[in-house]
Amino acid sequence: MSSYPKTSALMARGIEFLGSEHAIMCGAMSWVSERNLVSAISNGGGFGVIACGAMTPDLLDAEIAATKAMTDKPFGVNLITMHPDLTDLIAVCTKHGVSHVVLAGGIPPKGSVEAIKAGGAKVIVFAPTLALAKKLLRSGADALVIEGSEAGGHIGPVSTSILAQEFLPELAQDFVVFVAGGIGTGDMIAAYLEMGASGVQLGTRFACATESIAHPDFKKAFFRAKARDAETSVQVDPRLPVIPVRALKNKGTESFTAKQREVAAVLDRGEVDMNEAQLQIEHYWAGALRRAVVDGDIENGSMMAGQSVGLVKEEEPAAEIIVKLMCQAEDALARR
Ligand SMILES: Cc1cc2nc3c(=O)[nH]c(=O)nc-3n(C[C@H](O)[C@H](O)[C@H](O)COP(=O)(O)O)c2cc1C
Repeated sequence: MSSYPKTSALMARGIEFLGSEHAIMCGAMSWVSERNLVSAISNGGGFGVIACGAMTPDLLDAEIAATKAMTDKPFGVNLITMHPDLTDLIAVCTKHGVSHVVLAGGIPPKGSVEAIKAGGAKVIVFAPTLALAKKLLRSGADALVIEGSEAGGHIGPVSTSILAQEFLPELAQDFVVFVAGGIGTGDMIAAYLEMGASGVQLGTRFACATESIAHPDFKKAFFRAKARDAETSVQVDPRLPVIPVRALKNKGTESFTAKQREVAAVLDRGEVDMNEAQLQIEHYWAGALRRAVVDGDIENGSMMAGQSVGLVKEEEPAAEIIVKLMCQAEDALARR
């Protein structure tokens, strides 16, 4: 018998889909979601996801192997669709028998969903609009994450509460849908489950788990921060569309504005095309996030964080965070 009967009942489809004890995913966070955090989440009953980010196929190969050595529970791999070696990265996942691949960062390129499924894995996608979500789910994607603008990292323009009202009534009956963005407590989890979600995905709440390798200064900045400190980046040039990023405001936020001007100038001079310009922006983020997470440079690095950072107060083991979330969800449902 589950200790969380009401919550587990509402999570049943998500649990079956993920193969985990609870339908709580820890969203991939570049530099943070590596073997230690991913295995701790999966061992704690949640579902960890490796952030491939800009890793080479060899690095991903090693990371998956190391994660497998630390957990025998299922976990996923998050691949960024614009990665130039996407095909090889998919092959690495297939080689390891990875059960779930999450495709993030844009519309999956032609053939990628098919290639993942041919390798035996389930495919989880993001979709910014309901029409695209329907198209992706009908053409082979196995599950969807809707992620609102409260989230940390790269975000869309619409809040989670609106996406949930728009997508869940249309999709939740027939498809497995996870809700992400701005979830910091089990009360919120209960609410989205009641609206039809099969499960949830959290990032910010898990970034400072004990097992997270994020630098102690990165964690301390999270504990100090309030919701309002997690701001979205500003796009400076209308011709260079950059995906907004939510992060704690610091000097790095300003240097991103300068970077955009620099990339816009080389674009103007015709030295790079739009694709390359956008890649340069993404590489900037990857480097800046590494500086914050790994080196602990919380002034100049990118402190990607969601608004739920205001609810993160202390370092706790991943398994304890999961228990807390499940207890809160169960209490909330019991009070109904
Ligand atoms: C530090 C950080 C890094 C992230 N990196 C990625 C990433 O590499 N790929 C991705 O798909 N999402 C990334 N995300 C988003 C998370 O996977 C997750 O969807 C999001 O954090 C959920 O919203 P929350 O922050 O409100 O919990 C990142 C989030 C944070 C906070």
